[in-house]
Amino acid sequence: MGIYLDNAATSYPKPNDVAEAVYEFMINNGTTSGRGSYKKAMESDRLVYEARKLIADLCNFDDPKRVIFTSNITESLNLAMYGILEEGDHVITSSLEHNAVWRCLKTLERDKNISITQIPASKEGYTDVSDIRKSIRANTKLIIFTHASNVLGTIQPIREIGEIAKEHNIPFLVDAAQTFGAYPIDIKKYNIDILAFTGHKSLLGPMGTGGLVLNYNGNINPLKSGGTGGDSAYEYQPDYYPNKLETGTLNVSGIVGLRAALKYIKQEGVENIHSKENELVKYALKELTTIPNIEVYGPKDSDKIIGVVSFNIKDKRAEYISFELDSKFNIMVRSGLHCAPNAHDLIGTKEIGAVRIGIGYFNSTDEIQTFIDALKIIAQK
Ligand SMILES: Cc1ncc(COP(=O)(O)O)c(C=O)c1O
Repeated sequence: MGIYLDNAATSYPKPNDVAEAVYEFMINNGTTSGRGSYKKAMESDRLVYEARKLIADLCNFDDPKRVIFTSNITESLNLAMYGILEEGDHVITSSLEHNAVWRCLKTLERDKNISITQIPASKEGYTDVSDIRKSIRANTKLIIFTHASNVLGTIQPIREIGEIAKEHNIPFLVDAAQTFGAYPIDIKKYNIDILAFTGHKSLLGPMGTGGLVLNYNGNINPLKSGGTGGDSAYEYQPDYYPNKLETGTLNVSGIVGLRAALKYIKQEGVENIHSKENELVKYALKELTTIPNIEVYGPKDSDKIIGVVSFNIKDKRAEYISFELDSKFNIMVRSGLHCAPNAHDLIGTKEIGAVRIGIGYFNSTDEIQTFIDALKIIAQK
């Protein structure tokens, strides 16, 4: 089976319940949700509603109707940014954003003349929140921050940023791709207006699932219009949630799998998931720094990062290291820019990329040790 250390790309394996729930739904139900009124369709509705409720509970939110399902966080973030930003608006964001945020902002800059302030981060990925306060303008319409960098792992000061956003009445959008399910998030306490999530990473669910949690009363224009299963004679997109932003048939089988993953996370406890991952990261950091000629990027303190560690070894290309790990040792890691070129700019690796390990809940200390032993052999070649 090999050792899977690419959980930042997608988590693997998934809890057994996830695949079983998808299989059971596809074999024994298979109906759409929000459409039919026969018993099986009502069961589908119930399963989707429960998934919304579990998402809401996981971030201490109280209105499952404002949990919107999408196909991944890229779609969620596009929906929020295109739905809120208008010609000439100003946006504040981090220096660590994934292209799911950054390309969308650059496109809006080009096509809608929005302006972007990128808050500088240190080489380790730390953001000074006072820079955010200084950057606010009269036309600042959105603050967008990743909860944690998918290159350096660095956790961002979301709570403090939320306070500033609230003080200035600016909507605050958080990209929780790498944290939701593995790190406690309280949408109310952190003053997050819009939480974007993806189902297949730290939430341990299937690909093709994601969404937004809307703790936000402002308008979000839909990206798409079409069938919602209700008010069909009305010629425009309905104005109530979730239908306003959910159009076309939902990925019910995927959401049923996500529901199983959410139940699993609830049963294990986010704090326990977080502390197990934290122990593995601590171990990996300690062992990685013993490897000759290695440069480990980002904070060396496991409490400051999620399960992501990037590194390079002097005179060895990142692609060579990941290829050797895979071909000789059956260890799966990722090399390159990880769709986040700005974070690589910070650490000076935009030209060469880096090797990244993504540690997940199902990894073990033995697996990390096997990876370290393999890396030592590759480093000495
Ligand atoms: C921080 C962050 N945001 C967004 C994404 C995009 O996720 P998805 O491909 O599920 O839309 C990723 C995935 O790598 C990510 O790490």
